Amino acid sequence: MNILVSGRLPEKVMLRLSKGNAVQDHGEDRPMTRRELLDSVGDKDGFLCMITDKIDEELLNSGPRLKMIANLAVGFDNIDIEAVTARGIPVSNTPGVLTNATADLTFALILATARRLVEGDKRTRAGDFRFWAPLLFLGRDVSEKTLGIIGLGRIGRAVVRRARGFDMNILYHNRRRIKSHEENELGIKYVDLKTLIEQSDFISLHVPLTDETHHIIGNKELEMMKPEAYLINTSRGPVVDEKALFRALRKETIAGAGLDVYENEPSVTAGLKEMDNVILLPHVGSATIETRTKMGLKASENLLAGLRGERPPDCLNWENLNR
Ligand code: GLV
Repeated sequence: MNILVSGRLPEKVMLRLSKGNAVQDHGEDRPMTRRELLDSVGDKDGFLCMITDKIDEELLNSGPRLKMIANLAVGFDNIDIEAVTARGIPVSNTPGVLTNATADLTFALILATARRLVEGDKRTRAGDFRFWAPLLFLGRDVSEKTLGIIGLGRIGRAVVRRARGFDMNILYHNRRRIKSHEENELGIKYVDLKTLIEQSDFISLHVPLTDETHHIIGNKELEMMKPEAYLINTSRGPVVDEKALFRALRKETIAGAGLDVYENEPSVTAGLKEMDNVILLPHVGSATIETRTKMGLKASENLLAGLRGERPPDCLNWENLNR
């Protein structure tokens, strides 16, 4: 089979894929350009794609032989699932293997924003640490504060487990409320979105990007937040109205934000980079050696199963394929 891999992946993953297959490996860290993608996909049976690749009608028209598409991510808003399904192509993602890494990064952002870690490092290097004093470099407590989780999937739950170690009071909002015995086991309380926003000291987003979740945090929601609250986003950028967030941070109507994702990656809303009350990371939620290897192997497993005509373990559209 002919396979396209549009990003550079760990060697272990490439070895797995190339057993018995002809693999075109992009081999560079930059995403393939649209032109490169359209030119490369023409003779391919399988495509292991990146979140930076837009899988739409145009791309599918350029790849008439495609039999399977495996996304190297749990989020799949880069893929027009309907268009892929209409062509009878199975498509998969990589759930589970990146849950802990993403929850760890979320917690790192909670701690880093509240305790001003990045600003403290910057100021120490700049010679600003001239003496210790009781009212210098003050942040805010994380322990025993209220954490509001929006989106209680695998990652949301993993953040809950970490927050319990910090004795946090945990609220959640989700499309569907979970069973009450499960709420009790997790030690969390279901509230409507407005209550969550109004009561939380930290709000953390763990929803997929859909029409429903686009700008779920906008001007109105930011205005409802406590002035001492922080917004953490490790999900997808467009879930937050980034310009509205910039205004809230500039006016200091909220305490701060920790962002790993942006509305128009890789660009960042003008002005944010100059502000100390926001921490900006380059979309690294799952970026550890272990996790990226697991993601690569999982995507490969899915791709190879689909190419054999079997149901890929993490297929997103199997039931809707006409077969
Ligand atoms: C990364 O952003 C992912 O969705 O896995």
